[in-house]
Amino acid sequence: MDKFVIRGGNPLLGTVRISGAKNAALPCMAAALLTEETVTLQSIPQVRDIETTRRLLAAMGAEVELGYGRAHHRTTISCRNLVSPEASYELVKTMRASTLVLGPLVARCGRARVSLPGGCAIGARPIDLHIKGLERLGAKISQEHGYVEATADRLRGAEIVFDRITVTGTEDLLMAATLAEGETVMQNCAREPEVADLADLLNKMGARIEGAGTSTIRIKGVSKLHGAKHRIIPDRIEAGTFIIAGALTGGDVNVSGCEPKHLTALLQKLAEAGVKTSVSADSIRVMGDNTLKAADINTEEYPGFPTDMQAQYMALATQAEGTSIVTENIFENRFMHAQELVRMGANIRIEGRRAIVRGKSPLSAAAVLASDLRASASLVLAALVASGETIIDRVYHIDRGYENIEEKLRAIGAEIRRIGEIFPKRKSAAG
Ligand code: EPZ
Repeated sequence: MDKFVIRGGNPLLGTVRISGAKNAALPCMAAALLTEETVTLQSIPQVRDIETTRRLLAAMGAEVELGYGRAHHRTTISCRNLVSPEASYELVKTMRASTLVLGPLVARCGRARVSLPGGCAIGARPIDLHIKGLERLGAKISQEHGYVEATADRLRGAEIVFDRITVTGTEDLLMAATLAEGETVMQNCAREPEVADLADLLNKMGARIEGAGTSTIRIKGVSKLHGAKHRIIPDRIEAGTFIIAGALTGGDVNVSGCEPKHLTALLQKLAEAGVKTSVSADSIRVMGDNTLKAADINTEEYPGFPTDMQAQYMALATQAEGTSIVTENIFENRFMHAQELVRMGANIRIEGRRAIVRGKSPLSAAAVLASDLRASASLVLAALVASGETIIDRVYHIDRGYENIEEKLRAIGAEIRRIGEIFPKRKSAAG
């Protein structure tokens, strides 16, 4: 398993370019299931979850070409011949977002069989709201052997009110409703920019969707969708992570190719914490020469402070003067990074949904373990300001969602390298 070795202490200086958003790319790839024609997606990030989605679609008979390098992150997906509308446990267990194929498959093929994801490192994460919504659209649902099976001759438009806000749940049902007969009105929808990006693609494919990005979405069902070309929005969480890296290391970093409007809650909080930023149309410059001050955060659905930035913010809070209270409202177990930060010298106490972070604590290098994608990013950030050489194990988590993070960090002055297993397994006697 790969590890990162990071020597802390360098201020980061220079420009870093943000990749396309993983969490927009995943539903957009699933949306290609809704048509026989080719869907071309630009700005697809080169991360492991995208490769998992390629395998997921290919297993159903789709032709997926991931074009990196000179192809400028352009991906083409053709789902002309779908042989098996199934998502196996093998794939779903490695990536929960695989459940995004449920809605499109039942809408296009009249049948879908998708493994139930089970719990994960950050919480229970059930998919009951996806299932209830599909039932409202007229699908028959059965659950057996760890799989959910949905069938419908043709889905019918309906009123759906989400019991609680769910991002992939909104996306899944949005895709399903595009091919339903009649109108669907969904209320209490997720307002994340990734939902609006998906709706943009679907409308280019011939769907009739209004209101995506607000809490009420109206979809007039159509009988067929066609191919389209679409550029994925920039990754706001990757951008936020680099902004914090600049602030934390006392550097001067220009985070380019991002969408500042998607980062308002984070930028407001950073201003409160004493971080200086200047914003232009598609870039954010962070100047980390101020002393950091404590500021509390509460994670919320968009446009609130994103849960996907909570772990990285906690790393920053360890270096701020005073006490910051970090409250996690979206997932019940998303503090796994806190204990690793404590091992590096942070002063953090967990009380249920709250983490009480007292700063400023000098951090010192240690061997630490990454537990999920954003937790890994938080440890990378802490390592950038720790004295000595931190070794972060299980960086496959970070590879799921950050494109070339070590190259991007190295280019702006970080001392970071990737190493393979220090003690590779011995070959067996049989060779
Ligand atoms: C999306 O996950 C993101 N993933 C997550 O990004 C992100 O943390 C999360 O939204 C919240 O912003 C993708 O977009 C691929 P939810 P999702 O359904 O859709 C509960 C990252 O690091 N819930 O909005 O799975 C659920 O348990 C990741 O990139 C139900 O109870 O999250 C949670 O408490 C990790 N029943 C809350 O809702 C359901 O049927 C919000 O989850 C669905 C959700």
